[in-house]
Amino acid sequence: MGKNTIILAIESSCDDTSAAVIINGKIASNIIATQKVHEAYGGVVPELASRAHLQHIVPTVANALAQAQVQKNELSAVAFTQGPGLLGSLLVGTCFAKGLALGLNIPLIEINHLQAHILAHFIDAPTPEFPMLCLTVSGGHTQIVRLDSHFEMHILGQTMDDAAGEAFDKIGKIMGLGYPAGAIIDALSAKGDADKFSFSEPQIPNYDFSFSGFKTSFLYFVQKETAKNEDFIAQNLNDLCASVQRSIVHILMKKLQKAAQDTQIKHIAIAGGVSANGGLRKALHAAGEKNGWQTYVPALEYCTDNAAMIAMAAHFKFEKNDFSTHYCAPNPRLKMS
Ligand code: KG4
Ligand code: ZN
Repeated sequence: MGKNTIILAIESSCDDTSAAVIINGKIASNIIATQKVHEAYGGVVPELASRAHLQHIVPTVANALAQAQVQKNELSAVAFTQGPGLLGSLLVGTCFAKGLALGLNIPLIEINHLQAHILAHFIDAPTPEFPMLCLTVSGGHTQIVRLDSHFEMHILGQTMDDAAGEAFDKIGKIMGLGYPAGAIIDALSAKGDADKFSFSEPQIPNYDFSFSGFKTSFLYFVQKETAKNEDFIAQNLNDLCASVQRSIVHILMKKLQKAAQDTQIKHIAIAGGVSANGGLRKALHAAGEKNGWQTYVPALEYCTDNAAMIAMAAHFKFEKNDFSTHYCAPNPRLKMS
């Protein structure tokens, strides 16, 4: 029997410190240390994020190795998120991965965070077939991507301003909800009437998106209503959440359906933090039934930032002997492909 391929992967692009171990292509552990420090500020504070990564990275890696029952000297490679993300946050994971790989004299593998969100679909069966389309929706990105193989990715469309997750978070802030607001809006929506309010949706050509005007029109709407009734938000919170969620999901699904129709691709996935959204998951499923698509939704633990997706991408790179040099640097603006 050949030697096992055991890769340790580290994710530190934003405000989650995560480490995972993958053994012969199967995830053996995925530890996520979420940073609570940002809640009080209503958004991620970059300097606080990098300091928290420094505190979390050693115990998080130790936990990931322990849970996978792997010793450091058994590792075949170390992988890390190169970007995109916050520079200070990325630096912590990059330096840690480089130091460990150098000390153990094993290969280093750099991973693109956006590619990894999509490759999370290959962690558990059933895995998508190529060509596939993926709607990647997170706090920082909104893209429709065509994949012809694991690393042949082409962006068909993307947001011109705010990301879908950012729209959820900013609208949540307007309503006085905590940060990040996406999951809160999702939960409150279940108790609300999605047809109670309607908001004008952006008219953007092709497969591109825009959420900035949508957020502003929501702000003006609640300002106008609050001037008449100062308890407007509190009295209508669930209905507001449900109506906003329905609109965001509608904006996303319209473009995804157009891309699927134009390309005639039938394997359709969603990825990123917003793919945890109950309304989006339901809408994808319904569109799949209607259009004869095979749809793919990641397990909840692989939607928001995690190192298991970095590990999966690293496994595919390891198989191609696609390794990094120790000169590679984090890139906050790393492009998709
Ligand atoms: O992928 P992710 O963890 O980090 C980035 O790479 O940005 O995504 C975080 C985003 C946040 O904007 C958060 O509000 C959103 O994902 N999110 C959700 C849900 N869970 C997380 N948005 C809508 N519904 C959810 N259930
Ligand atoms: Zn992400």
